[in-house]
Amino acid sequence: MKRIGMLTSGGDCQALNATMRGVVKGLTNLYKKEVEIYGFLNGYKGLMREQYKLLKPEDFSGILTKGGTILGSSRQPFKLMNVPAEDGLDKVKAMKDTYKKLKLDCLVVLGGNGSQKTANLLSEEGLNVIGLPKTIDNDLWGTDMTFGFQSAVDIATDCIDCIHTTAASHNRVFIVEVMGHKVGWITLHAGIAGGADIILLPEIPYDIKKVCEALDKRTAKGKGFSILAVAEGAISKEDAALPKKKRKEKIANRPYPSVAYDIADQIRDYSGQEVRVTVPGHTQRGGSPVPYDRVLSSRFGAMAAELIKKEQYGKLVVLKNNEVTAIPLSESAGKLKYVSPEDSIVKDARALGISFGD
Ligand code: F6P
Repeated sequence: MKRIGMLTSGGDCQALNATMRGVVKGLTNLYKKEVEIYGFLNGYKGLMREQYKLLKPEDFSGILTKGGTILGSSRQPFKLMNVPAEDGLDKVKAMKDTYKKLKLDCLVVLGGNGSQKTANLLSEEGLNVIGLPKTIDNDLWGTDMTFGFQSAVDIATDCIDCIHTTAASHNRVFIVEVMGHKVGWITLHAGIAGGADIILLPEIPYDIKKVCEALDKRTAKGKGFSILAVAEGAISKEDAALPKKKRKEKIANRPYPSVAYDIADQIRDYSGQEVRVTVPGHTQRGGSPVPYDRVLSSRFGAMAAELIKKEQYGKLVVLKNNEVTAIPLSESAGKLKYVSPEDSIVKDARALGISFGD
């Protein structure tokens, strides 16, 4: 009998259930009925607090297309893992105790950056751990693609598409603010897919004058409207040049709900154009996974099952050059995958006339 613990950690995304289904289908194929799944509730919290559901393979049927996570999720910051909980609980010890008490053979962690850092910590503490790369942000180092990303791009693109028609009717400038935390992958892809005229990313700090010049150029060409795809982490050249502490303070004290509103005001002041802001926010993590994510999740799940069968633990399942493979968790832990201004996709976008405001 194989006893597998599984949890979904951090911000949710569309393909968490699809991935868990993939893991369980792979396992039941390899071990027939000889598998018990301990699904920990609300991420690492469930592992710390011994809160779990004993699940059967049938419980993972019919969830391929279902967004969210049947196990629930929560954010348990890595930097606080060694800080006792409010009631004094030693979190790392508690997680190890639960694992040992349930006599688990392996813990499968579906999570993004911080969650995989904790997975690596638990692996270094002697637990058998397999990580699966989840996040809409696609910022996990070591994998070309995370599950959730393409579904988020789909929603952000849909939003830009809808804005297009209204922007054209009203001759306005529209800013669509896209999620992605510190990286610009979703914005870059949705911006290109949605035909945005200007794309602003955290990795390519903008100059508001250049942004306005790009808008003026469109006006001069007789284009009545413009669309900006702006990453939630977009930053001006001026702010990027500040020391980290000052930059954080300035952003925290910004008199706007988010960067898009700040940029909107600056465009209004500079060019007098009418500007509107749209923030699709958490809708980008909702709904059904797109087919690409369903395929990726199923492939990732199959690989996780294979690694368990071969007892190759301490690994993160990744996609490299369209092949599903695995790398040591320690190789990826603590590193972010950023957009590089030198990436060919950025150069291609520039070749199409898209401005990055730099
Ligand atoms: O990491 C996924 C993500 O949606 C980011 O794009 C975003 O910055 C963050 O999570 C939002 O977090 P929360 O759900 O805690 O508001």
